[in-house]
Amino acid sequence: MTPACIASHGTPLAVSLGMRPQPRSRTPRPSPQSDLGSLAAVLAHEIKNPLAGISGAVQILGESLPFEDPRREVVREVLREVARLDNTVRDLLAYSQPIQPARRRFDLQDSLLRAWNTLPGSSSVRFSIEGCKGVTADADASLLHLVWSNLLQNAVEAMPAGGDLTIRVSAGPPVSVEIRDSGVGIPPQVVQRLFEPFFTTKTRGTGLGLPLCRRIVEAHGGRVRVTSAPGLGTIITVEIPE
Ligand SMILES: Nc1ncnc2c1ncn2[C@@H]1O[C@H](COP(=O)(O)OP(=O)(O)OP(=O)(O)O)[C@@H](O)[C@H]1O
Ligand SMILES: [Mg+2]
Repeated sequence: MTPACIASHGTPLAVSLGMRPQPRSRTPRPSPQSDLGSLAAVLAHEIKNPLAGISGAVQILGESLPFEDPRREVVREVLREVARLDNTVRDLLAYSQPIQPARRRFDLQDSLLRAWNTLPGSSSVRFSIEGCKGVTADADASLLHLVWSNLLQNAVEAMPAGGDLTIRVSAGPPVSVEIRDSGVGIPPQVVQRLFEPFFTTKTRGTGLGLPLCRRIVEAHGGRVRVTSAPGLGTIITVEIPE
């Protein structure tokens, strides 16, 4: 770079003219974390739109196939994978941003059912909701939707050969949601690391699900508890103040 070129970029101009360098601006530089947060947000938006396009196009292709065509299953598999990718991008985006709950009162069973109905690939699991009907929470419905989606997805993934997924909602205070599966369970050495960002035991996991859940629940003043018996199953309890 020539001196003229350097001078044209600002501060070094004073140096090249023999003047006293001016003190640096005190405007704080963004932290590496906020840089990463912005990068994640840009990436997530860049990925999400094409994904929606792929999903729509593949759906149309699938509908053009005869009903009994075995390629329909291939289309379903592509759609499941796209949905999974979309969820990963969604979690990365949520995890990299500050969490500021926008509270309103809503029905917990309704929000849990909505999360269950939008989960990809859960056909071999018996699902039930027990406990109080009409229990409400004063919380951010879309953030809690992320919590339920991640916890239900983990429960389904813990039962590759199928099993029972039971949810129990209890009135507070604090309101509690217990998500119980009859899956593989979690060994004690793994339990200690569950909430570390990017910790995963899955070949295709990202390890952001539980850390994101904890951040969201704690932003509501609540907590997440884990009880597990290897070989028998796992109970994840979310408590949120009313
Ligand atoms: N219900 C469960 N039963 C058994 N193991 C679980 C359960 N929930 C979580 N785990 C363990 O905790 C680890 C971390 O879970 P987390 O949801 O944070 O990430 P992940 O599921 O591996 O990846 P992803 O980012 O796709 O969610 C999992 O890899 C798994 O080993
Ligand atoms: Mg997960």
